[in-house]
Amino acid sequence: MQKALLKWNGQEAEFPVLEGTEGEMAIDFTKLRQQVGLVSFDPGYGNTASCKSAITFIDGEKGILKYRGIPIEELAEKATFLETAYLLIWGKLPEPAELKGFLRQITAHTLLHEDVKRFYTGFPKDAHPMAVCSAVVAALSAFYPELLDPRGAEAEHGAIIRLLAKFPTIAAFSYKHSIGQPFIYPDNKLDYTSNFLRMMFATPCEDYRPDPVAARTLDLLLILHADHEQNCSTSTVRLVGSSLSNLFASISAGINALWGPLHGGANQKVLEMLESIEKGGGSVEAFVEKAKSKNDTARLMGFGHRVYKNYDPRAKIIRKACYEVLNKLGVRTKLLEIAVKLEEIALKDDYFLSRRLYPNVDFYSGIIYQALEIPINMFTVLFAMGRLPGWIAHWDELQKDPDFKIGRPRQIFVGPTGKHYLPIGQRKQ
Ligand code: ACO
Repeated sequence: MQKALLKWNGQEAEFPVLEGTEGEMAIDFTKLRQQVGLVSFDPGYGNTASCKSAITFIDGEKGILKYRGIPIEELAEKATFLETAYLLIWGKLPEPAELKGFLRQITAHTLLHEDVKRFYTGFPKDAHPMAVCSAVVAALSAFYPELLDPRGAEAEHGAIIRLLAKFPTIAAFSYKHSIGQPFIYPDNKLDYTSNFLRMMFATPCEDYRPDPVAARTLDLLLILHADHEQNCSTSTVRLVGSSLSNLFASISAGINALWGPLHGGANQKVLEMLESIEKGGGSVEAFVEKAKSKNDTARLMGFGHRVYKNYDPRAKIIRKACYEVLNKLGVRTKLLEIAVKLEEIALKDDYFLSRRLYPNVDFYSGIIYQALEIPINMFTVLFAMGRLPGWIAHWDELQKDPDFKIGRPRQIFVGPTGKHYLPIGQRKQ
């Protein structure tokens, strides 16, 4: 094994160097504090590997993404979302009998407990569906007390199946509540995404037959969002799971982490940005200048990524799908023109080139969601639906990790020292 040598304060200490299967190298600092009395300082964790993981590989320099060793381009073309979910969670593509059994289990659990429905009426109509979904997912732990043991194989399996099966129902109900329509129960004859679209758009007085193009497109988007190694929400799920919190509680925390505009909330922000450019007369150049200005907080939403310093491979697939789907569905939108122009200008601009800022997964996804008539406040919910198998796979991997430890970073304290308690009368006004 290779070693890295650290010289500090007259001491020398050696640390093992680990190598991943794709050639990534890392200094193992597990014993850093013990050996030399230092801790590592890495805000935002840009250089910190928090675990060993066999789920997803990303090469951000080359724009490569693989789930369990399989390139995302192959899965996008050939797999279904539930096959991909199986691959991520159980580590291999399901054999025919395994897939059949898995689909049967998912289908058997699409309904929500009738009492869960009462939660929805407690939320205001204008509640963001992400708030509702995270609350309802957390509440599942109250409904399945027998499925909470993070180390019980049967309990874990039951919780995984219920989460995957019920999330589309939970999500569609959050939308129905927001528009004041009755909930539409799942129809187990339909596939995963067709069922979701029907629960979104059917009413008791008018059925809705999901367009197979729309259902397949949604399935593709879910595949592309299914995992992305140690991103903010996945790290959150792992951190919460590391205290041995149950799977429902950990996933609910992940949904909240995903909600932020710098993470999963970006897809909503991209569409709002494109709409505001359109309303303002469509000056793409002026917006790009705003996004570059240090005196303006605007960013070019859907651009830039902590890991990709090249075109996000998911964005490439979505860009192509965007043209195809809009064509097939006969949808014309000015927003696609604005997005293409924004990309063209940004990719020639030294500001974006020098910072290696390229379109990410969110840049074109909102335009597709809009073409599928998904309301804007549901975009991030769909991201959560896609990311669910990834979160589950990481939570499961953590629970079985031989290096398992509760997550607990250190800090460098920079606050006041040597202060004392002063009685109230002696404190200055
Ligand atoms: N528009 C304009 N400038 C940008 C953008 C952007 N979208 N992204 C980064 N920059 C600039 C920063 O201002 C900074 O410039 P400086 O060096 O002059 O200060 C430089 O590029 C580096 O940016 P950081 O914020 O330090 O990069 P970081 O890796 O921390 O952030 C992030 C990555 C959060 C994704 C960022 O690029 C961003 O805010 N993008 C827009 C939001 C977005 O699309 N998020 C979705 C990410 S993908 C996902 O979560 C699914």
